[in-house]
Amino acid sequence: MAMAMLRVCSHWTLRPALLSTTVHGAPWKSRTSHVRRLCVRSLSVQDEGNAVEALAMDLALKAGAMIKDKSGHALQVDTKESRFDLVTEVDKACEDFLRNQVQEKFPDHFYLGEETATEKELERLRSGLKDSEWTWIVDPIDGTLNFVAGMPLSVVSIGVALGQNMEIGVVYNPFNDELFYARRGQGAYLNGIPINVLPHDTELEDSTVSVGFPSKPEWRLRMLEAIGKVAPSARSVRALGTAALHMSYVGAGRIGCFFEHNLKPWDVAAARLIVEEAGGRVTDMNGNFLQLTAGSILASNGGVLHDRIVQLVSD
Ligand code: IPD
Ligand code: CA
Ligand code: CA
Repeated sequence: MAMAMLRVCSHWTLRPALLSTTVHGAPWKSRTSHVRRLCVRSLSVQDEGNAVEALAMDLALKAGAMIKDKSGHALQVDTKESRFDLVTEVDKACEDFLRNQVQEKFPDHFYLGEETATEKELERLRSGLKDSEWTWIVDPIDGTLNFVAGMPLSVVSIGVALGQNMEIGVVYNPFNDELFYARRGQGAYLNGIPINVLPHDTELEDSTVSVGFPSKPEWRLRMLEAIGKVAPSARSVRALGTAALHMSYVGAGRIGCFFEHNLKPWDVAAARLIVEEAGGRVTDMNGNFLQLTAGSILASNGGVLHDRIVQLVSD
């Protein structure tokens, strides 16, 4: 890489892309106390990352407004892989909006969205992404069952990978206007305020465990088995019906951990970065590295809790 493209910075305060970011007209708090670290990055990659981050946040807010407006009022509810796997005209409209916007602003970026993903696009993710490639991994509505029922627990989830690493993660709950986001190496935030997972020495007995229910019946049985092993010791076990929100709550230290079998890339792409940047850990349910293709997920505060859950639920 040409030397002229490199910048050495001894401190990093608020990224330019975020200086103008507002939520409902109000400027967010500055993050000047945040990152003070030596960094050497390609200026063009940095600039592109800032533009991607600003767009991801903007799109999450706009798609969120569409969801909020239609919650409980979807006209067309169809099933996909099972009777528990729903899709509505609003999922599709949000997806079209997000995909068109990304392709218009970044025509050379790849886009993988739940409602439009092709086998070829999934195969590209499975076979590994090249270092310089940007890939948007999007769930237009995570929590469609809640959305259909008019329950205020659905989010927009936008993750962007650079090569094999998640670089940007945005999860927006329009019902209470909570925007969780993270940038690789730069921390995790909720509406502009840094967030952290629970302390690493938090015990299972003092922790709320959250779980999800996969849409395929055979995976539900495996989940029930895992829950049965954890529930007797956990302070409480909850299910919110949106994996991305559960994981964001782990990042914010509201709950200790989340697990679910058989999740899809778009369920976890954004929120895994939020958990990791908040100081937590995301692995598969055996405690191994989690690929971008996802599968069985364990997201936690990264302390004793993580190992304890792995001990209880691993194959
Ligand atoms: C679902 C939600 C739910 C999880 C399911 C997912 P969708 O996604 O994340 O919490 O338990 O496994 O399929 O269908 O609402 O996008
Ligand atoms: Ca989902
Ligand atoms: Ca979805």
